[in-house]
Amino acid sequence: MRLIFLGPPGAGKGTQAQRLAERYSLVKISTGDILREAVSRKTPLGLQAKSFMDKGGLVPDDVMIGLIRERLKNLDSDSGYVLDGFPRTLPQAQALSKILEDQKAPIDRVISFEVPKRDLVRRLTGRRSCNLCKRVYHLDFNASKQANRCDMCDGVLVQREDDREETVRNRLKVYEKETAPLLKYYDKKKILSRIDGAGSIDAVFDRLQKVLNSNNLQ
Ligand code: AP5
Repeated sequence: MRLIFLGPPGAGKGTQAQRLAERYSLVKISTGDILREAVSRKTPLGLQAKSFMDKGGLVPDDVMIGLIRERLKNLDSDSGYVLDGFPRTLPQAQALSKILEDQKAPIDRVISFEVPKRDLVRRLTGRRSCNLCKRVYHLDFNASKQANRCDMCDGVLVQREDDREETVRNRLKVYEKETAPLLKYYDKKKILSRIDGAGSIDAVFDRLQKVLNSNNLQ
């Protein structure tokens, strides 16, 4: 199963990708996680990406395409995966199609998670992630058992730099301008499914599984 998860910041892509990957032994490829790791290690990629990420903008296409090309090249050919956060622009989508055409391993399905804007802001400003294992929580909707501590590894829960309200609003604008047009692109290819991303995490996961089932995936 080779999937792309699309949706605005806070739509639940990462949360659902994590669950699906655990359930079906898929590889979760999150460009946001890869970039944040690079920023924290101060690698050349991280140093280049930081200024764009801090403002809620996008890292340049050539950097992102190179990164994904390498990541997919190093994947076992029979590994299924979920792309979370890539592609995000039309040039990225076109480059990905070309890479996968060369590998003769096209994307099976693109899932778009649709959530009202007011919910997105609340989800993002309340998000916390573990500083060690990076697991994602929410202060109200998906709280850890012990305040500020990760259930899995006892790491400390921190807020992402770009989850402050002003940056969140910019990220939502960037999504509308740069990423939302991809819905049309994948709809034309007839591989797009739209899912209602509102409601509980369990409810959304059920909808996701139904969509995959009805497309003979899993
Ligand atoms: P990235 O990390 O990909 O951020 P994003 O797309 O903005 O997505 P998020 O991680 O914010 O949201 P999500 O949909 O995964 O939601 P989550 O599941 O965490 O990218 C960060 C930055 O990196 C970008 O701004 C850009 O600068 C750069 N970048 C990355 N990829 C790039 C690319 N391809 N090209 C250029 N630049 C790139 O959920 C959010 C919160 O809500 C959590 O707290 C969660 O617990 C909670 N939640 C989830 N589901 C529910 C639910 N159903 N009900 C209630 N709460 C829920």
